[in-house]
Amino acid sequence: MDFDLAALLAAHAQDGYELYGRHLNPQQPKVLHAIGFDKVYQRGEGAYLYDADGNQYADFLAGFGVFAAGRNHPAIRQALHDALDAQLADWTQFDCGPLPGLLAQRLLAKAPGLDRVFFCNSGTEAVESALKFARYATGRRRVIYCDHAFHGLTTGSLSVNGSAEFRRGFDPLLPDTAIPLGDLDALEAELRRGDVAALIIEPVQGKGVHMPPDGFLTAAATLLHDHGALLICDEVQSGFGRTGRFLAYQHEPVVPDIVTVAKALSGGFVPVGAMLAKGWIVEKVYSSMDRVMVHSTTFKGGVLAMTAGLAALHVLDDEGLVENAARTGEALKTALTALTHRYDVLADVRGRGLMIGLEFGKPSSLRARTSWNMLQKTRVGLFAQMVVVALFQRHRILTQVSGDHMEVIKLIPPLMIGDTEVKLFTEAFTEVLEDASRGSGLIWEFGRTLAKQAARR
Ligand SMILES: Cc1ncc(COP(=O)(O)O)c(C=O)c1O
Repeated sequence: MDFDLAALLAAHAQDGYELYGRHLNPQQPKVLHAIGFDKVYQRGEGAYLYDADGNQYADFLAGFGVFAAGRNHPAIRQALHDALDAQLADWTQFDCGPLPGLLAQRLLAKAPGLDRVFFCNSGTEAVESALKFARYATGRRRVIYCDHAFHGLTTGSLSVNGSAEFRRGFDPLLPDTAIPLGDLDALEAELRRGDVAALIIEPVQGKGVHMPPDGFLTAAATLLHDHGALLICDEVQSGFGRTGRFLAYQHEPVVPDIVTVAKALSGGFVPVGAMLAKGWIVEKVYSSMDRVMVHSTTFKGGVLAMTAGLAALHVLDDEGLVENAARTGEALKTALTALTHRYDVLADVRGRGLMIGLEFGKPSSLRARTSWNMLQKTRVGLFAQMVVVALFQRHRILTQVSGDHMEVIKLIPPLMIGDTEVKLFTEAFTEVLEDASRGSGLIWEFGRTLAKQAARR
């Protein structure tokens, strides 16, 4: 019998959670059941997901930032169909087809000052490449990173992870040192020891949506270069227009030595990562024919990944998504910032473009404060989780808490959202805040449910 994907999906439409719990990460379905996120989605289109009953969910998470152009973009889908139908010679390993060169050329055209690209399969692999290339190019070992940094979860990128909960139990990692985000003095003190290969930094941090002060990247680059070290900007999440510039570091007049990208380069279809770097760094690593494979991976530059990347960049330009992210992001941030004056539990609205953090703080009214304190005592971050759950259950809007033990929600919707989605989110969020501020209502009921579950664990 032929392989029949449609039949397989139809026969097992309801089995996903059970199979996942049995054969993959056992905690994943448990968590999703506990917070009521255990839906069975059938379809995605643009900024929306649809479940089996035809309910529509607004996607303000975009697969952790993958779907810049929206889900199932027709032009990217068509490009991938074309690539499959052409039956191209993929991964011969001993040829140089045009697609990797073309995608590299287009990426570099958008990152002036960078000259060469290494393609890989994910964000963490792009970071691993950056760490290796920086260490080799400088002949130094230590990499500096920022508190709360997130650069992926393989061993090298875990070494520059700024959260203890990810690192615990995986020691020893690579030699590294954390500095507070945006602290030039701390950076300089480390550089003076003479063993630093690079600083790796997210221009907008994924965990907590914190940014270094304006001008930090430029000043850090000068300081690093003065001490023979490199600046690595990790744009895996902030890249491809997310912050209203093609790359987020481009809000400053700085050229990093190495830049990592992934996520949205996939077009939402084919995993792919890339490291962009100044020419001398890559040329030093690949310094002779003997060293041609010294850094490589089997799947680098695959036809589908390169096609997805080329089509994704085409759509980004064609639909003006970078400009749209700047414009729509500003509108959303303005609308949400206005709520900080009405609801003191909303302590801060920050971010750039369509990468927005909403931070909660202790409310002033007695009733609301009692519930806030109860949740804080159970677990920091539970209030934000409660808002995420309310947005999902009441308004069918998918968001996420921005990191462990943080009262911050992160919004990273597709870059093609417009006024409709700004209004949709703002109205829903207002309703949830209104309820939370009254210190009563469903949201607190749900908070208690979560608190009980957390206490039982
Ligand atoms: C800034 C940053 N770097 C690296 C990574 C790791 O990417 P991946 O999950 O594709 O390994 C992430 C993932 O969220 C990220 O946000």
